[in-house]
Amino acid sequence: MVIRKAKIQDLDGMMALINEYAQQGLMLPRSKLSLCETLHCFSVVVDDTGEVSEKEGILGVGGLHILWEDLAEIRSLAISQKAVGKGLGKKLVAHLVEEGQSLGLNRIMALTYQMTFFDKCGFTVVEKETLPHKVWKDCINCSKFPSCDEIAVIKELTPVAAVSNGN
Ligand SMILES: CC(C)(COP(=O)(O)OP(=O)(O)OC[C@H]1O[C@@H](n2cnc3c(N)ncnc32)[C@H](O)[C@@H]1OP(=O)(O)O)[C@@H](O)C(=O)NCCC(=O)NCCS
Repeated sequence: MVIRKAKIQDLDGMMALINEYAQQGLMLPRSKLSLCETLHCFSVVVDDTGEVSEKEGILGVGGLHILWEDLAEIRSLAISQKAVGKGLGKKLVAHLVEEGQSLGLNRIMALTYQMTFFDKCGFTVVEKETLPHKVWKDCINCSKFPSCDEIAVIKELTPVAAVSNGN
């Protein structure tokens, strides 16, 4: 299993995986255009060769979207039904957190129904009202707006300077 940045060739597989769960109401659907425009934000989980196995397809997908100078959001996180329960979700979140850390971000958040999973990934539930308005910019396009029932979770990152100083 390899986690790598998404490529154009992954688009259809990513969309299929996300929209399968979206149909079950577990996450928001994504159009091909929206995935194209934000492809650089996404990472995928694929087999050991780094390629997408014809049999298994894309095993996991998740995006890290920078919202503001100190905050990014994990969006469209999904692990294939064939691969859930094997620790891939946790590894993908750790990968996205590491990416956020290397970008110098202070905090990473997600809006989710999967509080226990995010708790295991080191995130804490916060009141949505405590998040900056910037977070809600895209919500106007969501079918659930303005009655969002997702829970906000957040993880504070270790400042990069402290990491490099060994503090
Ligand atoms: C939520 C999801 C990403 C979890 O992926 P996964 O690969 O199955 O999760 P992992 O195997 O890495 O689990 C990590 C930990 O979280 C726990 N966990 C995972 N899903 C859970 C759930 N639905 N409820 C409670 N605990 C859960 C696991 O038991 C594991 O605990 P452990 O570290 O003590 O062993 C995956 O089930 C999924 O894609 N769901 C549908 C889409 C979705 O809801 N995405 C989240 C949108 S924000």
